Amino acid sequence: MCESLKMRSPALWTPEEDETKRFLQPKGWEGVFLRRAPIVCDLGAGNGRFAAAYAELHPEWNVLAVERKLQRVRQIERAAELRRLPNLKALWFGWDDLLLFYSAPASCREIHVLFPDPWPKRRHQSRRTVRAGVLDAILRVLEPGGFFRFLTDDAGYAAVVESAASLLPGFERREDPRGFPTSHFETIFRSKEDPLYGGVWQKAEGGD
Ligand SMILES: C[S@@+](CC[C@H](N)C(=O)[O-])C[C@H]1O[C@@H](n2cnc3c(N)ncnc32)[C@H](O)[C@@H]1O
Repeated sequence: MCESLKMRSPALWTPEEDETKRFLQPKGWEGVFLRRAPIVCDLGAGNGRFAAAYAELHPEWNVLAVERKLQRVRQIERAAELRRLPNLKALWFGWDDLLLFYSAPASCREIHVLFPDPWPKRRHQSRRTVRAGVLDAILRVLEPGGFFRFLTDDAGYAAVVESAASLLPGFERREDPRGFPTSHFETIFRSKEDPLYGGVWQKAEGGD
């Protein structure tokens, strides 16, 4: 049975009841997945279509789907149960806070951020999840040699991410290896033949 972790305001946590934080320590991942294996994160996982397909394709990896809507977390849990994927877990949490405040450095092999809410209106753009500080956190949380994959249908969002990532030493732009399972939103956009933007960045092998 795949158990989601509770989402609570960090301000309300006490050291005794802080179970989320415990899970987010490097050793804690083994507690969540009951085994040691590379961690792959799908952040803002939606209905978990990508995460479940990726977990199925890579039983040797631990796939963590992070989503802030509880109903979608439950959907991912059901998929893990029905498709017998003990290597897929769902975390009910804000993924930017997870990376910024509760993740160990060099703890993830891959980070996928697929079609984050685009907030296209200029006055709403400060609400976008992928911003400079969060990119810093992504780089810190990746293992050396690990990669970050970002996809969006919003050209402006992609341009901002591209330029912020280019300022980070130790983050190298790579060709998209392709061949990944599609996410729910990707399927929708591709069926309409909408242009998609984004790419893959790899953390330098010698990076911290
Ligand atoms: C447009 S959907 C894309 C879902 C999925 N990645 C896909 O490609 O089908 C964006 C998802 O990110 C979730 N989300 C937005 N901000 C989030 C945050 N800070 N932490 C976790 N999930 C978030 C939303 O609830 C929504 O399910």
